[in-house]
Amino acid sequence: MTQEQTLSIIKPDAVSQNIVGSIYHCIEKAGLRIIAAKRMQLTQQLAAKFYSIHQDKSFFSELITFISSGPIMVQVLEGKNAVTAYRTLMGTTDPKQAAIGTIRARFGTSIDQNTVHGSDSVETAQEEIKFFFSICEIIS
Ligand code: CMP
Repeated sequence: MTQEQTLSIIKPDAVSQNIVGSIYHCIEKAGLRIIAAKRMQLTQQLAAKFYSIHQDKSFFSELITFISSGPIMVQVLEGKNAVTAYRTLMGTTDPKQAAIGTIRARFGTSIDQNTVHGSDSVETAQEEIKFFFSICEIIS
């Protein structure tokens, strides 16, 4: 078991439902610590940069429109095997396929409006954390 950090985004569907606190509760109950957090709204340009890995996918345009459509909450999470632990807690990308009790199964409504994002590897996490936070904003 190794201590890791991962990036978490609470997406516009969840922020507009006013369930940020419920999602924070799930994160903390899973043993992960929120060591940085901010509320913001992405421009389409920043959203396209963040999700550039998906730029050739058919859903890219919808993804950028949705993620920039309203406020999001962005967090750095820390804990044992945080990348995998948070992805397990989120559930699969499509809320309809997600395991019972996961965040996406509980709060997500579609593959687009799936409530949360989490980094898919330790390497990606480092890049995604740097995208949103400066070193002095992360208090481990
Ligand atoms: P996320 O984990 O934020 O990473 C990329 C997002 O693209 C994903 O969650 C989904 O919300 C969204 N998306 C929309 N359609 C698809 C699809 N067919 N496959 C994967 N991701 C999709």
